[in-house]
Amino acid sequence: MAPLFVFLTRGRWRNIPPSMSGTQIIITPTIEPSWKVRSTRRGHAFHPMCSYMAMFPPRLPNYFIQRFSNRGDLVLDPFSGRGTTATEACVNGRVGVANDLNPLAYMLSRAKVNPPTKDAAIARLHDLERGFKGAHLSPNEPEEIEFVFHPRTLKQLVYLKAELTDSREDTFIKATITGILHGKYRKNGTDSMYLSVDMPNTFSMSPGYIQRYVRNKGIKLLDLDVFEKVAQRLERLYRDGLPETEGEAYNRNVRTLHEVIEPQSISLVVTSPPYLKVIKYGLYNWIRLWFLGIPVNEVDAALDDAHALPEYLEFMSETVTLLEQSLKPGGVCALVIGDVAQNGKPPLNLAREVWEAVAPTASLRLIKIVEDRIADHAKVTKIWKQTRGRATATDRVLVLCKGDQPAVNNPRAV
Ligand SMILES: C[S@@+](CC[C@H](N)C(=O)[O-])C[C@H]1O[C@@H](n2cnc3c(N)ncnc32)[C@H](O)[C@@H]1O
Repeated sequence: MAPLFVFLTRGRWRNIPPSMSGTQIIITPTIEPSWKVRSTRRGHAFHPMCSYMAMFPPRLPNYFIQRFSNRGDLVLDPFSGRGTTATEACVNGRVGVANDLNPLAYMLSRAKVNPPTKDAAIARLHDLERGFKGAHLSPNEPEEIEFVFHPRTLKQLVYLKAELTDSREDTFIKATITGILHGKYRKNGTDSMYLSVDMPNTFSMSPGYIQRYVRNKGIKLLDLDVFEKVAQRLERLYRDGLPETEGEAYNRNVRTLHEVIEPQSISLVVTSPPYLKVIKYGLYNWIRLWFLGIPVNEVDAALDDAHALPEYLEFMSETVTLLEQSLKPGGVCALVIGDVAQNGKPPLNLAREVWEAVAPTASLRLIKIVEDRIADHAKVTKIWKQTRGRATATDRVLVLCKGDQPAVNNPRAV
């Protein structure tokens, strides 16, 4: 049988700087981006509840979860976005722990790791619908939102916006609405599952663009019933039942996450950190944030995705040090970090930069930097590549281990 780990001496790792070679590096040769292989496995129906820019496919965390954790283990994503890792962990009998500083991401993650039963969600939706029928409303919303929804649809949304609380049922309903708030019509121009004027689902088009689009094209906004659309969506979301386990969700700056996570309690981290001005989560989600009553500027001012390279590397060093404290001995940390385009120069291999910044102080060991070329259709940030983004077609997964080798390694699990 081939040895599980071999020490680096040669081959394609030659270009790793000498300071990182030798006994510090362990390779698990079998870590390959097999999550890229198309499969019929579509993942739990909760995953596509709402799109999120730079989300990764469930197959990616699934690969690491199967391989480097056991049932009942805690699996953390400190930058959880739409909650892909934590949800996949719960679906597979682990305890998914999600954290994100963006309130939209937190809400999506929480909805999935602490969901209500289907019956409870539907009962609450019916209560809300009854309440709406008796409500007297005089919506006073910003003008830009009036170009996005038909007046009746808007009235229902304004009612729901005011009524929905942070309870388990309401969080799930809010997350469901957020996912269908805007999106594309069918090819023949009729509505699909979305509530808005025809626009992308992944990000909100700018208010000015929407106004011009609606005015210039003389577009008639469709009268869409929110309660009916949400009921239909709930049917689809619950088609796989509930995930096997309950998880946890936090809305913290990653710098304070250690205050709520016990040291040495986490078996596996799978995450994609924010990176280098690729996305403005507030601005590009202004319609969803309007619905949640959260100011766009607050979101963009708080998140760590506008740093220049030196500050970014400092942020990542600090983050990895904190993650290291929460990992169990033998715990694994997989960081998905995309290459970043640079004006007139070859793309920056940010994963390598991060490892070089982290290596001098971290006691984590490098297992491997796996290259993951993104298929054309597969990357959400690709949308921005053509316009204003700096994301490239290459992601890399920086796989680190606390101690000499992973405590759990099930190479045949995937
Ligand atoms: C690349 S996205 C993660 C996407 C996620 N993997 C998914 O599948 O949806 C990075 C996330 O980091 C979050 N973030 C940025 N700065 C943060 C901070 N200081 N603490 C916690 N989360 C932060 C952003 O809100 C964003 O959701």
